[in-house]
This record gives sequence, C-alpha cells and structure tokens, in this order.
Amino acid sequence: KLYGDRRRNAAGVDLSQTSVRERLKQAVAAFDTGTRIAAGPIISGKARSGPLTDVLDPARHDRVIGTVVEADAAMIDEAYAAAKAAQKDWDRRGGPARAEILRAMADILEDNTDRLIALMAREAGKTLNDGVAEVREAVDFCRYYAAEAEAKFATMDRLPGPAGETNHLGMHGRGVFVCVSPWNFPLAIFTGQVAAALAAGNTVLAKPAEQTSLIAFETVQLFFKAGLPVDVLHLLTGPGSSVGSMLTSDDRVAGAAFTGSTETARRINRSLAATNGAIPVLIAETGGMNGMFVDTSALKEQVIDDAILSAFGSAGQRCSALRVLFLPEDTADDFIEGISGAMDELALGDPADAFTDVGPIIDVAARETLDQHMARMREHAKVIKQVDPGEYREQGSFFGPALIELPSLDLLDGEKFGPILHVIRYKRKDMAKMAQQLADKGYGLTLGIHTRVAAFQSAVMGCVPAGNVYVNRNMTGAVVGVQPFGGEGLSGTGPKAGGPHYLARFAAERVVTVNI
Ligand code: SER
Repeated sequence: KLYGDRRRNAAGVDLSQTSVRERLKQAVAAFDTGTRIAAGPIISGKARSGPLTDVLDPARHDRVIGTVVEADAAMIDEAYAAAKAAQKDWDRRGGPARAEILRAMADILEDNTDRLIALMAREAGKTLNDGVAEVREAVDFCRYYAAEAEAKFATMDRLPGPAGETNHLGMHGRGVFVCVSPWNFPLAIFTGQVAAALAAGNTVLAKPAEQTSLIAFETVQLFFKAGLPVDVLHLLTGPGSSVGSMLTSDDRVAGAAFTGSTETARRINRSLAATNGAIPVLIAETGGMNGMFVDTSALKEQVIDDAILSAFGSAGQRCSALRVLFLPEDTADDFIEGISGAMDELALGDPADAFTDVGPIIDVAARETLDQHMARMREHAKVIKQVDPGEYREQGSFFGPALIELPSLDLLDGEKFGPILHVIRYKRKDMAKMAQQLADKGYGLTLGIHTRVAAFQSAVMGCVPAGNVYVNRNMTGAVVGVQPFGGEGLSGTGPKAGGPHYLARFAAERVVTVNI
C-alpha cells in the first residue's frame, strides 16, 4: 500500500549556490553583530519575565546569543488552565481547519529559512547543511500532519452494522498534551511534536530542551503568525528536572510526546503514571545503539562514505547515528584504513561556514561524557584515531571525531551521543552471534546493512530488530512520509513520527451507534 500521495516534501535551499551562501552569511552575521533574543515562557501569547540566564554559542563560549527565563509553578498552572479551557473548541474546529493553520505555518517556516538556519548554527552549533535539512523536516511535518488531520479528523468513518443501526468512528483530541523536545533537532522535532498534537485536536504545553530555548521561542511566535489561537499552544522554557517534571506530574496532563534519552523517558513515564487525572499516554522516541553490518560483497568506497556520514554527520548527535560498524575479518583492515583516511579530510570548525563537516558538541557537560568514554576506551580498546580539534576545543565545546576498535561489544555500556565510531571485526560464521549480541543490548532504532547478497540482508534483519533499516546507504536523515521514523525496545514506544499511524496515538477514538 502506498502512503503519502497527498503531499510533496519541501525543496529546501541549495548551498552549492554562492548567492544562497551569501544570504546565509548575512543571516548569521546578524546574530554575531548584536541581535540577541530574549526568550522565556509564552503563556496565552504573552512572553513572561523573570531572572535571566545567558545562552551561549556552543562553538564560541565567549559569544552570548540571547537570554532565557525559566518557567515557574504559577506559570505552569496558568498555562494548564488556559490550555484545558481552550481544548474543546480547538477539537471541535475539526481536522481541515487545523490543517489550514499548519499549512500556513509550513509556508511561514519556509519564508524564515535563512534566519532559522542561522539561529540553529549559533544556538545549537548546527552546520548549514544540517540547518537546511532541519527546516525542510519541520515544513514537511506541518504539511504531512495537516494532510493527515484532513483525512482522519474531518468526518466520522461509517462502519458496518446490522440493519436499523448506524455505526460511526471518529477521532478527537485527548486534552492537554505536553511536548518535550530535544536540542539535537531544536526546530524539526519541536515543530513536529507540536504540529502532531495540535493536528489531532489537543492543546499543547511545549517544553523545549534547555539548550535550545531561543529557537523554540521563535517557532512558537511563528505558529501564532500562522493563525494559531494563543490559548492553544504555550511555551514553558527551563530544565527538565524542574519545569519538565512539574508538567508531567500535573493531573491535567492527557499525554506526553518525548524525544530524548531512554532514562528520561522512563522518568516521564513514572511521573505520568503517578498522576490522578485521566490515564495519560506516552509517545517516546529515545536512544539507539545502531549497528551497520558489512559483508565481503560490499563496495568499499560506498561503505566508507556511508559510515563517515552516518557516524560523524551532525557531530554524531543524532539518535539514528551509526555507533558500531561490524566488518568482516577478511577486508576489515582495508576498510578501517579507508575510514581513518577519510576522517583526516573532515573539516571541523565554525558550523556557519558552508564547508564545515563537523561542528561543536552541544555543551561541555556532553563533551565530558564523551571524554570519559574515550579514557575508558584508551584503557580497554584500541583507539585507532581521534581527530585533534586544535584551538577549537578551547573556543567552544568541540570534540574530535574518533574511531575505536572494540575487542567485544561488552565494552559498550549505552548510547554515546557524539562523533565516536566503534568497529568490530567478525568471522563470517559468527555473524549471527554478533548480531544477537547487538540485539541483546535492547535498542531497536536504526540498522545499516551493506551487502549485495539478499540472504545476508535477511540474516542480519532476522537477528536485529530495528525501526529503520537502511541497506547500501547511509543510515541517518529519515524523510517525513518517506521513511517514517522511530524505534522499539529501549529506543521508544512508537508510533513513528512522519508516518501514517502517528496522529492516532495523540487521539481518542469515539464510536457513535444510532438505532434508527
Ligand atoms: N530523524 C532523524 C534521523 O533520521 C533522527 O535522529 O536522522
């Protein structure tokens, strides 16, 4: 069955054009020469004030790009009250009316492409390439969920029944949804979660990652510009430990959409379970320990290219990123040499430079975790290479991409969220054993396979459960409506974002039976 014929993906902008790069340069310069964003909670359309915290550029810690105010308990209470009061009306508007606003939002996002890319470069350290992809994804989410809302939240579906009786099934919002989004896709995932919850007829309290409050603050204003009523979406900025936990422990919560670590998903799940209102649902998209299995029929150059992009693209800060590359013993040396050589070519530096491949890690705390892993690996595994970030390491939270050969998968204790690629050699006869060891880690997000042999592909797929399998290509950058994205097990609850089943989880189903 072919889904998705109702829509097209956003075109984005072409960075190979000098004029586009020039435009983006100017957009970035606006932030570097003084534009500071004063972000904070937005409740019923009004920005709230309070003590300010500086927001630093992860690539240059001496550059303050804005300030943020943390939401307090009174603001959260006010936002819940307004969102709850507005929900029935919003639901009654129906899918097509909500779709119209989401489509307007998609257009407005496209109109603001340059500024959003520049802001993501400065607040989240995203390269321009990643920024382009992210605006496209945010636009796609709005249009995709608009089409879904129109198709599934407009009229009730007639069901079969006995003579003299009609049966209809309809979809409605559940109530107030809390959307907790991550810093690694500060625009796309923030917008996607909010758009989905809204499309399904919920009102929303959005809690963006602390590190990327400015982008969320701007995005919420764009939603209002698109015609969204101000009581339907509220922004609550601040840390997960305070603001996040107040939001998910309130008895008025109908459900939560979360993207982030497995550990935080568990915490949110416990918090939701302890509330005393309606039983809330959780949609969680979490971490991965993503493997790529290569056999001797694989094309070396392609594997090198795809491994480099999948492991080091976005500085490895994607839940879909490649973490463990399984190489057949016979060709492993050759492939490792190729990867190590390609690593020397990676350009590390200012994410706003169009030719940068690897920007900074989000913050110093994240880098410390990676440094600790490297220290452990130096002791127990073989560090083949770590690119030296030079003076960038002092300027900002840069971390040199690393290649490590593991003697065994036992050494990998959870997801390492950064540009670290582990390789393991395997004997052909042990492939299934290796794949089983990976599966036993409990994650199930992305899986890469490089082979020209169909039996190898099915053997790997038979062992390793994964939400998104990529054969003979890179394994990141799922496209809305084309590769619906999300995992299973420790990687999340599903349903997949950007897929045909996503909105249903945000919805309550109601059946009306009439005896005529
Ligand atoms: N959707 C993103 C990707 O596919 C998630 O990290 O890469």
